[in-house]
Amino acid sequence: MTGNGPAIDALQQEGVTYPPPPGMAPYAVIGSAAAYARAEADPIGWWEEQAHRLQWDSPWDVALDDSTPPFYRWFTGGTLNAAANCLDRHLPERGDRVAFHWEGEPGDRMSITYRELHERVCRFANALKDLGVERGGRVAIYMGMILELPIAMLACARLGAAHTVVFGGFSAEALRDRMEDFGATVLITQDHSFRAGKKVPLKANSDDALAQAPGVRHCVVARRSEEPVDWTEGRDLWFQDIEDAADPDCPAEPMDSEQMLYALYTSGTTGKPKGIVHTTGGYLTGASSTHRTVFDLRDDDIYWCAADIGWVTGHSYIVYGPLANGATSVMYEGAPAFPSHNRIWEIAERYRVSILYTAPTAIRTYMKWGDTFPQVHDLSRIRILGSVGEPINPEAWEWYRDHIGGGTAPVVDTWWQTETGSIMISPLPAVSTLKPGSASRPMPGISARVVGEDGQDVPRGQGGYLVIDKPWPSMLRTLLGDDDRYVETYWSRFPGLYLAGDGCRIDDDGDFWLLGRIDDVMNVSGHRLSTIEVESALVDHPAVAEAAVVGRADEVTGEAIAAFVTLRDGVAGDDALITELRNHVATQIGPIAKPASIVLTADLPKTRSGKIMRRLLRDVSEQRKLGDVTTLANEEIVTEIAALAVANPHQED
Ligand code: WTA
Repeated sequence: MTGNGPAIDALQQEGVTYPPPPGMAPYAVIGSAAAYARAEADPIGWWEEQAHRLQWDSPWDVALDDSTPPFYRWFTGGTLNAAANCLDRHLPERGDRVAFHWEGEPGDRMSITYRELHERVCRFANALKDLGVERGGRVAIYMGMILELPIAMLACARLGAAHTVVFGGFSAEALRDRMEDFGATVLITQDHSFRAGKKVPLKANSDDALAQAPGVRHCVVARRSEEPVDWTEGRDLWFQDIEDAADPDCPAEPMDSEQMLYALYTSGTTGKPKGIVHTTGGYLTGASSTHRTVFDLRDDDIYWCAADIGWVTGHSYIVYGPLANGATSVMYEGAPAFPSHNRIWEIAERYRVSILYTAPTAIRTYMKWGDTFPQVHDLSRIRILGSVGEPINPEAWEWYRDHIGGGTAPVVDTWWQTETGSIMISPLPAVSTLKPGSASRPMPGISARVVGEDGQDVPRGQGGYLVIDKPWPSMLRTLLGDDDRYVETYWSRFPGLYLAGDGCRIDDDGDFWLLGRIDDVMNVSGHRLSTIEVESALVDHPAVAEAAVVGRADEVTGEAIAAFVTLRDGVAGDDALITELRNHVATQIGPIAKPASIVLTADLPKTRSGKIMRRLLRDVSEQRKLGDVTTLANEEIVTEIAALAVANPHQED
């Protein structure tokens, strides 16, 4: 984006608002807006207070060391152990409390208490020790959603070794690259994982990756499918065997607050993956504090984050945040539609889930399947709903609140990133007046702004770049092995400001509206439009389930808006509907935003974490050879869309 004028034109007008549920504030973790003012007056003091909720082996000397920006350090001199904070600390008072109600895709179930989890982690940590893993060690983990995954992570943390979890949907090549970059000496995987009724051959993929990763000396394999796998004697070991054989007594290593807890590679939509480095004290402070405050965690809550632990959402809000808070969580292994479209709601009903946290892409999928599936389940316990990963369209937000939240549950739309480690912008359910489509305000202790090309704040209502202007405890510390790229990517555009890479606008009330990735902004006749606003207007139409919008090169307008739309189940698409949809956008946000073409398609290309890959749709629209598709979850759909786009390229009038 260059030139004069607003960095991004924000067109959409907000509509309805929802005040917090009556009577909630007095019992809430944060029940008053005074928390914002208090944190703003003394952000470091606020974070120290949050950090004090953890158990430290020795206190910190300095809360924030900002002597070498942007390499900030938090709680320096302090020592603690992340696994001890997630497990040991709870044993005296709540050892028999369930940590996870786990459910396998084939239907097997198991609940594990904090005491049992503690014992398994201690044994497995001792087993890892026998494989040479120690303080400062590096372990790669490539697993599906089975209990051995958090056990493996916590065992590393207990020993003071760093882990990198590679999402189980990635290929052998992706695994190899990440293991190599990370410098792993041990890989922990499983025979197969279950996903949508299929068996994913994780061990076979691991074998392929290990063949080209000589630094990895051992491969620990959890049994899940019981199907035979190839075996390399001396290198391969069964998880359960070495765990059972190990001693249950394993002291937790006191770790420096700034010691790396893990690195997580961002899959991104472009470029070489970046190893985002998170450390121990600051990260755990951010993850546990936000998990308590955003979800208003109570003692009797049953919490379910339906993400995969392979992404940061699972790290912070399935493993480290909830366990540090002693919460009871649901963990589900498989696909949401297996064996039927009821599965998610069946699980929510069975465990009496009271807090559900999922992604807009999932919500839009459920919306597409129709209201009848959640309707037949008792979801009356649900009191808080969360959303993360993409901007949520107001239509999907309303559907979520109405059909899953009984028309009353607050929806917390949480904005954050792998880099930020924990939630940065979100409503507080007992305090915020909600606006569907807005993530509300920066969390207490977080300071965010929206700036233009010159780095100055843009006026209220105008779109610009989202930046964070004060360090926060759970921030990334660097990119593994590449300090220069860290500085270049996040800190060079506007010196002193962290560049999130997202567009945003702040409305008159001070509420933040995320506008999608900066790279996705379209330039139509000199107006810089955010894709998300046009997409929201499309999804607002009752026939539409999901929409993706891109700018394709156009001789007249610079870029023309090309839309790709999936319809709700049971709706038939024809030319009349396409015309209607184009007009609908024009009425909703203005003629400038009217799509030049609309292609109806059965699905949209998405990354494995569910984000729409607009870059590929741009390639399709401009009839170019497709760019890198390795991070794509559903490759076939791009070819289908390409054929449709060629058959039906232009509709503009
Ligand atoms: C997007 C996921 C709008 C955003 C935790 C961000 C969102 C990227 C929201 C990070 C939200 C995440 N509203 N956009 N509530 N949450 N995003 O690293 O573009 O997988 O920069 O972390 O997702 O994705 P990541």
